[in-house]
Amino acid sequence: MIHSQILGTGAYAPKRVLTNKDLEALVETTDQWITARTGIKERRIAAEGEDTSDMAVIAARRALAMAGCRPEDIDIIIVGTISADMPLPSCAVIVQAKLGASRAFAFDLSAACAGSLFALSIADQFIASGSAKRVLVIGAELLSRLVDWSDRNSCVLFGDAAGAMVVGPTTDPDRGLLSTHLHSDGTAADILNIPGGGSRHPQSHEVVDKNMHKVHMNGREIYKFAVRVLPAAILEALDANGLKVSDIDHIVSHQANARIVESVLERLGVPLEKCWLNLERYGNTSSASLPISLDEANRAGCLKKGDLIAMMAIGGGMAWGSALMRW
Ligand SMILES: CC(C)(COP(=O)(O)OP(=O)(O)OC[C@H]1O[C@@H](n2cnc3c(N)ncnc32)[C@H](O)[C@@H]1OP(=O)(O)O)[C@@H](O)C(=O)NCCC(=O)NCCS
Repeated sequence: MIHSQILGTGAYAPKRVLTNKDLEALVETTDQWITARTGIKERRIAAEGEDTSDMAVIAARRALAMAGCRPEDIDIIIVGTISADMPLPSCAVIVQAKLGASRAFAFDLSAACAGSLFALSIADQFIASGSAKRVLVIGAELLSRLVDWSDRNSCVLFGDAAGAMVVGPTTDPDRGLLSTHLHSDGTAADILNIPGGGSRHPQSHEVVDKNMHKVHMNGREIYKFAVRVLPAAILEALDANGLKVSDIDHIVSHQANARIVESVLERLGVPLEKCWLNLERYGNTSSASLPISLDEANRAGCLKKGDLIAMMAIGGGMAWGSALMRW
């Protein structure tokens, strides 16, 4: 039976570092508050003229190089993003053009911070059905241009970055993606959204005056939602594969807040050392968070052949899920 494995990973974060101290000059906050409540110390901010697709392309080239794969070998490009270069066309087709991946069809996937996990699941379906051999999965997000820099509740959390994974087939039953489990709950759509700029409230002076084109967030509700559903998503994945919590070698997680990750792992009984944490340096990079974490763990040599990796992510929607993989 064919299933998919990750052949290469790549990541990119812009050069400019914005520290908590820098934020103290922008909004009424402190390094101490941000560190204690979120675990974040600094985040990266894209340069003027640097677009989401630019970050995505750099991460993609790094993943392709690791996979020994040329752009023209790619069958599908999926970009998980809610901060594409523009509303139309997709970020993915811009990435396709910049990479020269002329054979690929390309589309964006909107599942906020869970975007790259959802994209990985879709890639897996195409690979397992035999209709694609190389899928480029990217999570790329430039939220620094979509947050309200006067709202201390949200602006301290986010950072810009892109991560990529090249996914291809394997027939080795002991390696690769074992399962993905995805969920959505649209009844919670109002706890994290960008209310303006779509068809309901098209771009207008009024939308801009009311800051409706920026991220609106009820942090406390998201927090409660995340610590409730993420442990269940991991247990669901383990159950489906006849595995136990103690079988997990690594957790690769979307990182919104270190306290969310700690609380989920505590509920599961997984030691924190099993999770690759980098949010201290990047903040919440939304759909990029999971692939940049995977790439860092991979390049640091932490992931050994056959290791069991449990992935989890949650984002606006709400949208969330898990994946289990043998490295
Ligand atoms: C946002 C978040 C860090 C807030 O932490 P919290 O412990 O829940 O804090 P609360 O919301 O209870 O706010 C506590 C107080 O700190 C204040 N506060 C909020 N942001 C602040 C900041 N940057 N600096 C200082 N004080 C701040 C609040 O105004 C509130 O003050 P009040 O009690 O006088 O009203 C946390 O809820 C979180 O991370 N949620 C998830 C967000 C997320 O993941 N978003 C993306 C989805 S993937």
